Amino acid sequence: MTKVAIWCRHAQDNLIAVGKNIPWHIKSDSEFFLDVVRGCNVVMGRLTYETLPNRTIPDCKIFVLTSDYTYKVSDKANHFAASDVRDFKDFPEDLYIAGGAKVYEAFLSGGAKLLPDIVVDCVYDGDILPNLKGEKIDISACMPILAKKYIKVAENQVDGVTRRMLIRRGEFVDQAVMRKILTLMQN
Ligand SMILES: NC(=O)c1ccc[n+]([C@@H]2O[C@H](COP(=O)([O-])OP(=O)(O)OC[C@H]3O[C@@H](n4cnc5c(N)ncnc54)[C@H](OP(=O)(O)O)[C@@H]3O)[C@@H](O)[C@H]2O)c1
Repeated sequence: MTKVAIWCRHAQDNLIAVGKNIPWHIKSDSEFFLDVVRGCNVVMGRLTYETLPNRTIPDCKIFVLTSDYTYKVSDKANHFAASDVRDFKDFPEDLYIAGGAKVYEAFLSGGAKLLPDIVVDCVYDGDILPNLKGEKIDISACMPILAKKYIKVAENQVDGVTRRMLIRRGEFVDQAVMRKILTLMQN
């Protein structure tokens, strides 16, 4: 089944967060993310999960990566703690990979069965919000893999964010998933 990584990174430095914050507020970008993952399975790290409003994304099943075997999710029916990224190798449905940095890295460098079929690479080229506290988190480690293993099949720009759809070089990619993302990119 299809694996899709989706992120919004800053153009100059591949920053995705400063501490618990995404260092820009672009409504259309947040809405685009929610539209892409709507009704789908999403995997993310514990810290990203804990930044979600009410620790949830409506209509999604969320898999929270954590080493804490006693971790309590906010919605036991739809959210699940997971301790090993390798458990997603043969995931039986489409899966959307939603960060943070170590989670993107784990999937992109985890071998053929974890490597996303599609990357929705959103790049923001504006100013970063000032005075945010916390560690700067970037996904520069993923960039050589993107350059080597993916080709761009679509690109557009909305509110200062360039959205690119990349697919794995030389691999069959599910047309229905591609079409869904393309349609949402064009809205
Ligand atoms: N701009 C964007 O597109 C974007 C996307 C996603 C997130 N973000 C932002 O990024 C920030 C959080 O990112 P982050 O990189 O600091 O943290 P994160 O990846 O969301 O969470 C890190 C935690 O996830 C668990 N984890 C990660 N990889 C694991 C693995 N392979 N196996 C088991 N557990 C694993 C660990 O939890 P334990 O400590 O419990 O073991 C780890 O401490 C937030 O500010 C969020 O808003 C931005």
